[in-house]
Amino acid sequence: MADQEVYRGLKGVTVDVTEASFIDGEAGKLLYRGYNIHDLAEHSTFEETTYLLWHGKLPTRRELEHFDSQLRVSRTLPPEILEIIRLIKSAHPMDVLRTAVSALAAFDPDVNDNSFEANIRKGIRLTAQFPTIVAAHARIREGKEPVPPNPNLGHAANFLYMLHGKEPDEVSARALDVDLILHAEHGSNASAFSVRVTASTLADMHAAIVAGIGTLKGPLHGGAAEAVMAMVKEIGKPENAEAYVKKALAEGKRIMGFGHRVYKTEDPRARHLRKLAKEMGERMGQPEWYQILTKVEEAMAPLREKGIYVNVDFYSGSVYYLLGIPEDLFVPIFAMSRISGWVTQVLEQWKDNVIIRPLLKYVGPMDLPYVPIDQRVEAA
Ligand code: SDX
Repeated sequence: MADQEVYRGLKGVTVDVTEASFIDGEAGKLLYRGYNIHDLAEHSTFEETTYLLWHGKLPTRRELEHFDSQLRVSRTLPPEILEIIRLIKSAHPMDVLRTAVSALAAFDPDVNDNSFEANIRKGIRLTAQFPTIVAAHARIREGKEPVPPNPNLGHAANFLYMLHGKEPDEVSARALDVDLILHAEHGSNASAFSVRVTASTLADMHAAIVAGIGTLKGPLHGGAAEAVMAMVKEIGKPENAEAYVKKALAEGKRIMGFGHRVYKTEDPRARHLRKLAKEMGERMGQPEWYQILTKVEEAMAPLREKGIYVNVDFYSGSVYYLLGIPEDLFVPIFAMSRISGWVTQVLEQWKDNVIIRPLLKYVGPMDLPYVPIDQRVEAA
């Protein structure tokens, strides 16, 4: 075998082409289907952004109204899924989401139809049902009845309604809507790559999405926002931040919410979450979280020389916290957004499919003789 170059973690390896998102890690630029994330965060909604990602164009008013109505009528869960959630209510919310989505495959009439049209139908159902699963579990584990979806509310507002049992104010609903836009799609991140690998074998949409959920859970990926909030609570006061960071770095620990495989400057999504964290903190009379976060960011400034800046997960946790969302729901909320990107990746993989099967470089022994068991020496 010719000597194999090994790229651990597939660092710097381009595995396919995409039209879904453009990421410039040096410039800190992100486009969804050619549109800048700053424009989408400012002017779009999660529903409109999801349509853009799946269909490759901004919808007309009529197209958006139709798409939005399809999402609204697809939010309810089969009763069996609620029963499964009750049975595993003490599990981590990401494990409940993964299990519920896996079970949903058994109730989906299109499960084995991998046509574009069927995948759009399944994508609509999954995108609409993720919030219902997350909110229902949050209520059930507190001994409360799930709140049925409200078809009169938009996607983000309806989630907060199902979670808290009361309609959110406009500002809170918009804060979550912007967060969902920002987390929707991000190229071949670990969970999207898992989705692509599963789709590349021609397994079904549900199987691919379950793989994505399992992958996103890891603290090096989607789990960072939960870890950031735990850190902020541990720091307690802004004046403690610098010493906390210095000590953690001296001990070789990583500060969650910083660093990125692609961005070697500030993650362009972070500025919108930094702004939301500040505004929500002031509005809710809890400015201390944002004050602690900015002090941590200041203390991490020296690492910018190594290309380590805030990423999308650094400020998002405090926004969720201020929206009254428990910390262990932070990653499920990331998944509620990234389902739109995962569906995009499945659609794109199947446009021109090739099975994804990289190599490993073998470094073990060669051609050993088989030894009968009676001749094997027991370890001392
Ligand atoms: C997301 O890929 C995506 O697009 C993901 C995402 C998306 O939208 O899907 O953007 C969402 O997952 C954001 C990242 C959330 N994760 C975290 O915040 C966890 C903390 N960050 C990291 O562990 C790390 O930065 C990664 C995993 C995100 C990226 O790791 P890489 O590219 O493999 O870099 P590395 O682990 O090789 O680190 C390079 C150097 C190391 O120092 P040296 O050993 O070279 O001296 O940078 C250091 C690391 O120790 N480093 C950090 C650090 N992250 C990297 N040091 C302190 N704190 C950190 N957070």
